[in-house]
Amino acid sequence: MLPDPSHFPATTVIRNIGQLLTVAQRPILGASGPLQIIENASLAVHHGTITWLGSDDDAERLFQPKRMHEGLTFINAQHALVTPGFVDSHTHLIFAGDRAEEFHLRRSGVSYGELLAQGRGILTTMQATRSASSATLLALAQERLASIRRHGTTTVEIKTGYGLNKTSEETCLHIMRTLNTLEKQQGGEQQRVRVVPTFLGAHSVPPEYRERRAEYIDLLLEEMLPAFANLARFCDVFCEREAFSLDESRRILTRAKELGYRLKLHADQLSPSGGARLAAELGATSADHLDYASEEDLDAMREAGVVATLLPGCSYTLRTPYPSARRLLDHGLHVALATDFNPGTSYCENMQMMLELAMSSMGMSLEEALTAATINGARALGLQEQIGSIEVGKKCELAFWSMQDYHEIGYHFGVNLIRSILVLE
Ligand code: NIG
Ligand code: FE
Repeated sequence: MLPDPSHFPATTVIRNIGQLLTVAQRPILGASGPLQIIENASLAVHHGTITWLGSDDDAERLFQPKRMHEGLTFINAQHALVTPGFVDSHTHLIFAGDRAEEFHLRRSGVSYGELLAQGRGILTTMQATRSASSATLLALAQERLASIRRHGTTTVEIKTGYGLNKTSEETCLHIMRTLNTLEKQQGGEQQRVRVVPTFLGAHSVPPEYRERRAEYIDLLLEEMLPAFANLARFCDVFCEREAFSLDESRRILTRAKELGYRLKLHADQLSPSGGARLAAELGATSADHLDYASEEDLDAMREAGVVATLLPGCSYTLRTPYPSARRLLDHGLHVALATDFNPGTSYCENMQMMLELAMSSMGMSLEEALTAATINGARALGLQEQIGSIEVGKKCELAFWSMQDYHEIGYHFGVNLIRSILVLE
């Protein structure tokens, strides 16, 4: 017996989904396996919120009769695989210039840390970003966002951190706000990517403060953090030997927390910096990188509910050992995967590539990698109640793939397997 269709208000019904990979966090009737998959599926959406999902045969009976008199829109998925859109929870997408030269220098043996200590690396990009007009920065960001969309991402976190003074950091935060507005205006095309803004003024001490770094910390604490509290949802710190010490990081993040920011950390990437432990101490939403995190650090993160975000693009680019995802998973942590898209350590906007690297080099199964790139990305942004899986009550933010069976992901590699994204408002 089918339930009464009036229980499922709908403005759009997506029919003929070959395989619906829900990544649901609660069991779904008719779904199977760790990813809660429904074959030959359909889903109904009411003004952007999912109201029903089930078999396509049931959709025929439930929704087809309504078509005539209720102006329901039907979308034909043509038997495609449909998954939640990727949630890329860590990028540095707003910058000018490139660092191809440094990339090739590193090939000849110069390390990332050495370049940073010489005032290159992040500071090279800072110079280029400060010199660029905001129109140029916006145009570059739009191009990158378009590429991110083509590769299946529907929500992306973006950090500042290449301005490193009040004016330029603020410009970057305003660009993020503009990106969100422009994306919303494209809503008619159902391709809107959501931008989540993060303030990373503590990315590196800029050269003009090199000899007086305490003053830069004061500038962050007293001017920038209070001024940007309404522009950024998160505050992040690069807690590292070459960047900000554990004590400096603690001061910055504690102030940010008081001001209402949620917290993230670049933790234990190049050395055991204590960042993961600090993330647990302060109740950060995520700690990212974690190459050098100890067993105790990971236990502390689990107890505090901190998401562990892995960024395989960095290990690929820096040619450093890949941290083991297995180790984090065995510690009972929620593991997220993100691109870390940036001009220095991971110049890649494609989440599919991160899945491929996580499966080939970090010991993740396909199911774990897909979970990490969707619902756990949402967790890393505190958005797990709204997005990241396909469930009743969640936002309709989907990726349509150019194949019918998800087992092709990772197996067929190095090409874009996404046909399009679909975001309904
Ligand atoms: O996540 N580690 C610090 N930040 C970036 C790199 C930024 C850059 O090199 O421009 C990262 O790896
Ligand atoms: Fe980063």
